[in-house]
Amino acid sequence: MKVLVTGGSGFLGQAICRLLAARGEHVSALNRRHHPALADLGVLQHTTDLRDRDGVRAAVSGCDAVVHCAALAGMWGPAHAYRSINVEGTANVIEACRRAGVTRLVHTSSPSVVHDGRDLEGVDESAPYARRFPAPYPATKAIAERMVLAADGDRLATVALRPHLIWGPGDPHFLPRFAARARRGRLVLPRAPGKRIDTVYVGNAAEAHLLALDALAPGSPPAGRAYFITQDEPVTLTDWVNGLLGAAGLPPVTRHVPARLARLGAAAVEHGYRLARVRAQPPITRMAVVQATTSHWFDISAARRDLGYEPRVGMAEGLARLARHLSGDPAAPDHASVRTSEVLTPARHPSARTPEVLTPARHPSARTSEV
Ligand SMILES: NC(=O)c1ccc[n+]([C@@H]2O[C@H](COP(=O)([O-])OP(=O)(O)OC[C@H]3O[C@@H](n4cnc5c(N)ncnc54)[C@H](OP(=O)(O)O)[C@@H]3O)[C@@H](O)[C@H]2O)c1
Repeated sequence: MKVLVTGGSGFLGQAICRLLAARGEHVSALNRRHHPALADLGVLQHTTDLRDRDGVRAAVSGCDAVVHCAALAGMWGPAHAYRSINVEGTANVIEACRRAGVTRLVHTSSPSVVHDGRDLEGVDESAPYARRFPAPYPATKAIAERMVLAADGDRLATVALRPHLIWGPGDPHFLPRFAARARRGRLVLPRAPGKRIDTVYVGNAAEAHLLALDALAPGSPPAGRAYFITQDEPVTLTDWVNGLLGAAGLPPVTRHVPARLARLGAAAVEHGYRLARVRAQPPITRMAVVQATTSHWFDISAARRDLGYEPRVGMAEGLARLARHLSGDPAAPDHASVRTSEVLTPARHPSARTPEVLTPARHPSARTSEV
């Protein structure tokens, strides 16, 4: 099978490429820049931008299936950038699939499409799309997901996966930021008693994409549907962050601020950054505070039933794998191309002197990062 993975160079995309290559598929990737790690896997690379319709058409041409994983992810930045990459870029992918006669399109979406800032506790895919979003990222991901699902039909089958808070070897987003802040004693989390969140180990999230590819065909059960993909092990934010820090050999976070203070602080800081026209991501954002102070965990029965998905790597095993990866063990399962030194080097950031509330690291592939 010839499969194109858009965003194949990203954290999740690379894990998907690795699994596809390991089972002998012809894998190609679409990214803006050439990545040696993909070349090492034997992945053919199309270096183009999602917004370049002809470039996307050329990359999709000749493929049997497409995994559309590329996106601009983050909590901050101009809405037009999110719109052009996440919405118009996705429209280009759908158009190119139709034009090339691709029969299967697996789209990487996000649970944030249903999160309007209220608690989500054990909800399934019947939960409606949010009407209001705390940032352009989830708003544009919701539009993109709806477009992909609406494109499902007799010739092109489509499905959307919603992996939540991806972590593990190669994570360029969460752990580097948490680790840098923890080392400086500046990692602070909002108090959120009783609130639990879902997350997903990167290997499980990648496997879900292959399962979806295999289960998808016009008229099949997953066609035209969205699925939450998680560990099915909801934890408190503090426990999750401390698990990651522990895997990196760092002490746990002990400082918390009242949730109300975090909310007010985020609104004030965002306002200040806008007034001053600062382009850098603030040290605290409204979206981060919403994520940090509410429950968001999901019922994954549908993914189990229709895709055969099972979070095979449990939380404890995932953290052990992450620790092995961070210790530099090249034989660690799911060992990723991001090196230990890169993961644990404190990121330079304008907010370096400010206490941090769950704001993930900047990634070279995006102007801001992701929840
Ligand atoms: N990480 C999470 O916790 C999480 C949670 C829920 C959903 N998701 C979704 O999962 C997907 C992958 O996330 P990730 O964390 O792996 O992201 P990532 O590491 O930031 O990777 C993003 C990928 O998209 C590519 N890309 C970005 N803008 C592009 C453009 N304009 N044209 C072409 N390629 C572009 C990047 O390639 P280049 O930089 O080489 O161009 C990179 O390969 C996204 O759709 C995201 O919304 C992620």
